[in-house]
Amino acid sequence: MASNMIAAPTKRRAYMSEIYDFDRQIDRSNATSAKWEKYRGRDILPMWVADTDFAVLPEVQQALHRRADHPVFGYGHTPEHLIEVLVERMRRLYQWRIEPDWLVFLPGIVGALFLACRATGKPGDEVYRPAIIYPPFAKAPQMNAQNGLPVPMRMHEERMIIDLDWLEQQPTHPGQLLLLCNPQNPGGAIYRESELRRLAEFVIQRDMLLCSDEIHCDLILDPEKKHVPIASLGPEIEQRSITLMAPSKTFNLAGLGCAFAIVRQPELRAQMKVSPYIVPHVNVMGLAAAEAAYEFGDEWVRQQCIYLAANRDYLIDAVNRIPGLSLGPIEATYLAWIDVSALGLEDPMEFFENAGVGMSPGRDFGDNGFMRLNFGCPRSRVEQAVARIRKAVESLA
Ligand SMILES: Cc1ncc(COP(=O)(O)O)c(C=O)c1O
Repeated sequence: MASNMIAAPTKRRAYMSEIYDFDRQIDRSNATSAKWEKYRGRDILPMWVADTDFAVLPEVQQALHRRADHPVFGYGHTPEHLIEVLVERMRRLYQWRIEPDWLVFLPGIVGALFLACRATGKPGDEVYRPAIIYPPFAKAPQMNAQNGLPVPMRMHEERMIIDLDWLEQQPTHPGQLLLLCNPQNPGGAIYRESELRRLAEFVIQRDMLLCSDEIHCDLILDPEKKHVPIASLGPEIEQRSITLMAPSKTFNLAGLGCAFAIVRQPELRAQMKVSPYIVPHVNVMGLAAAEAAYEFGDEWVRQQCIYLAANRDYLIDAVNRIPGLSLGPIEATYLAWIDVSALGLEDPMEFFENAGVGMSPGRDFGDNGFMRLNFGCPRSRVEQAVARIRKAVESLA
């Protein structure tokens, strides 16, 4: 083979016996990491933005090396094989039959949320979104001069989800969009199929459109629970849906900028495809990484979920032993939503940074009584964080 040709990925799935090491401490201090640079030179554990400190799947790194060995980095073209792998993945995991041309590749989900608001409405339109949510959900309607309507959250089966009863009581306004986050960030709730059916019914009956951000769909920590893409529930909701997914959280590739939307309805899809005028194409390294990750990563993801579930179990137990703190079940994601309201702190973020733990402030998500802690890291760091949190909280007494 000529040396400048990019070798095809080896057709090999990870052997069941391969054990990945999520305990490994990796120094990210000189790796242009947003998470680690924020606290450079300060003794604060970075447990905020949603990337993990785990090494990627070896096949991903090999694919990136192979691509980097080719000396030309012109505009990319989505590999046919990546499309095939995704079509097969939707069918295998969710019995969802999508067509290759329903896929729209994008450099990120945040941009896709903005595009979805733009694609489905005009300035002045109304967009429902969860009241407590990953901040860009609130920004995306605003940036399109649309009115974001926060849907109150409620606890149901120990999970924080949007209040379906409240939603169903709202007056009808044709043309509205509903932004859903499933699994929900923050909180990690997985919507049940029955709840998704109710939501689908709500969208169909009111002649609305839906954008479902499912970026955390592979990070299911309870093996008996299942992710269901809402668009897979039937042709009517499929016609009204933009489903957003990405390898970035699942395989720790957020810095490579690769995501995709699944859009059945052609006009809606065409609207999402205006992206080259607003956001750039997916970069060639992101495409190479995504292809290898989805091709070879199932076993790696399975082991990562087991590791994360053990971190979660440890964290829930340890946090709930600290008087004044409370942490409920986390079904998905590596993001703990810790209730610190009983401490009565004016600025919880500052308090916990002074304690040496850099979390995400709940106020950015819509509730100042909470802090979001990223436990996608070696267990030893989670233990260190808990010890620091405990010491600081006890010092309040
Ligand atoms: C629900 C949700 N959507 C989108 C993103 C970000 O996606 P991207 O980096 O592809 O813009 C995150 C990152 O934490 C997220 O939690």
